[in-house]
Amino acid sequence: MEIKSIKSQTFIAFSFIILFFVASASAQALRQNFYQNVCPNVESLVRSAVQKKFQQTFVTAPATLRLFFHDCFVRGCDASVLIASGNNQAEKDHPDDISLAGDGFDTVIKAKAAVDSDPKCRNKVSCADILALATRDVVALAGGPSYKVELGRRDGRISTIASVQHNLPRPDFSLDQLNNMFARHGLTQPDMIALSGAHTIGFSHCSKFSKRIYNFNPKSRIDPTLNRNYVFQLRQMCPLRVDSRIAINMDPTTPQTFDNAYYKNLQQGRGLFVSDQVLFSDQRSRGTVNLFASNNTAFIKAFVIAITKLGRVGVKTGRQGEIRIDCTRPN
Ligand code: HEM
Ligand SMILES: *[C@@H]1O[C@H](CO)[C@@H](O)[C@H](O)[C@H]1NC(C)=O
Repeated sequence: MEIKSIKSQTFIAFSFIILFFVASASAQALRQNFYQNVCPNVESLVRSAVQKKFQQTFVTAPATLRLFFHDCFVRGCDASVLIASGNNQAEKDHPDDISLAGDGFDTVIKAKAAVDSDPKCRNKVSCADILALATRDVVALAGGPSYKVELGRRDGRISTIASVQHNLPRPDFSLDQLNNMFARHGLTQPDMIALSGAHTIGFSHCSKFSKRIYNFNPKSRIDPTLNRNYVFQLRQMCPLRVDSRIAINMDPTTPQTFDNAYYKNLQQGRGLFVSDQVLFSDQRSRGTVNLFASNNTAFIKAFVIAITKLGRVGVKTGRQGEIRIDCTRPN
């Protein structure tokens, strides 16, 4: 009798706990048709603005894709990276964000203006969602997949240099460091490998890998995991004492196409950063690299799953945050 009542009490308590979790989870969740009633044309408004910008310069694609990644890993996907600094203390002032190309910021500003040109939509769509949509559009424009984007993110009000520290991966990271950092953001090793495929488009400054191609000192020798011919090619493009503004294609084969060439390059020792090449040199990740290299469909499938998960990282929803009127400053 007594046991039975304890059992039913526990059952009721458990039901409430589960109910609570289900309710709070659904209140927090993003969804594809979030703006259906408020701004039904949001997708086409963003797409045409992004398309126009992409036709002006290809950098639009890599710049926007990288901007989305850096936004999501720091304070969640809340457009905090877009906030302008009065005193050089914003996210975008951190050394890891300084090299974010201006065309990514410009893409969001232009897409936001396009959205706001529709009176129905004015100041109804968050900058964080506009960045997520623009990212999908640039991936598709560069020849990658077009996928459904979950929406309903709210914009954050805070952007600080300090929050960037220890939240973005560095190009000299080991596999364990990469896995730890991605795991902290809810992403698995396959997610991390698929997202690294973003390096199939875009540019890197020579300083990010020069240690790998020169024998600077006994502690910094040419990286033995690098393809010898690639080392010589890189040295030609990045001579010593080179202008620090020089940037080169990260994918030497198809630099303007979003495809699985990145993984084929890794198989040949043509990964530009330590953090790229390690995905092939380390036994624990090599299998996934080989799979993505041999099967573009498998890569695309994994990329869509991973970027959708990336888009959920630390999001603000419901009454959290705000809908920013100007993407470069909190209301
Ligand atoms: C896995 C760890 C990663 C590391 C260590 C890393 C590091 C870097 C570095 C050092 C650059 C060159 C920046 C410069 O010199 O201007 C770069 C560029 C880039 N990264 Fe990553 N990245 C990583 C993951 C990602 C992810 C997950 C994405 C997106 C999903 C991404 C997208 C890009 C793009 C598109 C560029 C080219 C940017 C441009 O051309 O403007 N990266 N990354
Ligand atoms: C490639 O990957 C896709 C998606 O995972 C799978 O359906 C397909 O069977 C694979 N193709 C080959 C040739 O293995």
